[in-house]
Amino acid sequence: MKLASSVVLFDHQALRDQFPALKQTIGDHPLCYLDTAATSQKPQVVIDAMNEYYQFNNANVHRAAHQLSTRATQQYEAVRLQVTDFINASQSQEVIFTHGTTESINMVAFGLTSQIKANDVILIDTAAHHANIVPWQELAKRTGAVIKPIPLTADAQLDITAFEQLLLLKPKVVAISHVSNALGTVNPINELVAKAKAVGALTLVDGAQAVAHLSVDVQQIDCDFYVFSGHKMYGPTGVGILYGRYKQLDQLTPMLTGGEMIKTVSFNRTVFGALPNRLEAGTPAIAEVIGLGAAISFLLQLPREQLLAHEQQLMQYLQQQLQKLGDIELYGIAPINVGAVAFNLQGEHHQDVGILLDQQAVAVRCGHHCAMPLMASLNLNGCCRASIGIYTNKQDVDQFIHALNAVKELLL
Ligand SMILES: Cc1ncc(COP(=O)(O)O)c(C=O)c1O
Repeated sequence: MKLASSVVLFDHQALRDQFPALKQTIGDHPLCYLDTAATSQKPQVVIDAMNEYYQFNNANVHRAAHQLSTRATQQYEAVRLQVTDFINASQSQEVIFTHGTTESINMVAFGLTSQIKANDVILIDTAAHHANIVPWQELAKRTGAVIKPIPLTADAQLDITAFEQLLLLKPKVVAISHVSNALGTVNPINELVAKAKAVGALTLVDGAQAVAHLSVDVQQIDCDFYVFSGHKMYGPTGVGILYGRYKQLDQLTPMLTGGEMIKTVSFNRTVFGALPNRLEAGTPAIAEVIGLGAAISFLLQLPREQLLAHEQQLMQYLQQQLQKLGDIELYGIAPINVGAVAFNLQGEHHQDVGILLDQQAVAVRCGHHCAMPLMASLNLNGCCRASIGIYTNKQDVDQFIHALNAVKELLL
C-alpha cells in the first residue's frame, strides 16, 4: 500500500523535527519510537515552557501576593481554561488537575465511597487498563459492591449485547475505556454512555489513549467523568486531568485533604473550599501543568483533521505490512484502530521479540500492557504492541517491519 500523499498536505518532517528525542540514533540505527501509547515524545515547546517557568516564574500558585506567584498562578489557571476548551467542558471548575489518569480514577472511586452500598453493581470493560480496574475493586472491598466485567466479542470488541444484559442489573457505575491501550480498539463511547445513563448509572470514561488521537467533546459524550494523562498527549509526565460534571465532582469526598482545598480550618471543624480547589489539595505539579498547556497550544496550531487522517493511514499501512510479513498473529483488528496494534510472532515469546527489536533501535512495548484480564480473555500471557503518534512516519513503519523480518528469520 502506498500512503496517499494528498493526506499529508502539511510539512510532516517539520513537525517531526520539533521532537528532539526522535533525532537520535541508537547503535547504527535511527531511533524508531513505536511506544507512544506508553508515553509520547515531547516537542521542544513543551520542554521550553517548563524550563521557562523554573527559570523565571518559579513560585507557588494561589498563595503569595508577590509577582512571581501571580505569574505562576495566571499561567496555571490559564491552562485550566485551555483544557476546558480542549475537551469542551461547560465550565472551568469541572477541570481538576491531577497527577495522571491513575490518580484521577482513584479520586473518583474513593470519592464515591459514601454513595455506594453493598451489592451495588459496577461494570468495567474487559479490555480496561489496570488503572480502571483496581481502584474499583478497592471501592468494592470498602463497600461490598460487586464488580461485573463487560465481556468482549470473539473479535475483541466490547460486546454490546452482553452490556445491555448487564445494564438490566441497574449498575451504579459504568467505567469504560474510550480507546483500549493494548489493542487500539475504539469503543462506541456515546452509545455506551447513553445506554448506561438510561439506567441511571454514573459513567467514567478512561480517555488516556483517546485524547491524543481523537477530538474529545465531553458534553457530546455526556459522561459524568472523563480522565486522561498529559504525558500521552505530548505533554509532561506527572500531570493529568479529572473532568467531571460539576454536580458529580462536588459530591465526591476528597481523597486528599490539607492545604489549598479548604475554606476555613479550626480544630473544631474544617470547611472545604469550592471546586476546583476542593479536589486539588497541596502544591500541584505547576511546571507540568504549564507544560501541558504548551502541548495543547502545540496541538491546536496543527491541522488536527489532517493529522488524524495521517495517523489513520499509517495504522492501516502498519497492519497491512504486518499481515504481509506472515507468521504474525494480530489481536483486536477492527475497521478503525487508533494508535496501537497488538501482535505476536507465532510461537515466539513477546519479550524475546521486543529485545531483538530493541537491538535494531525499534522501541515497542511487550508484556500484558497493564491489561491482564484482557490478556486472559485472549488466552495470551502477553504480546507486543507497536504504537504511533503524530510524529510517526512511513519510514518508522518500514524500519520496524524490516527489523521484525530480521527477528523472524533469526527465530523461526
Ligand atoms: C487506557 C489507560 N488508562 C490508564 C492509564 C494509566 O495512565 P497513567 O499511568 O498516566 O496514570 C494508561 C497508561 O498507559 C492507559 O493507557
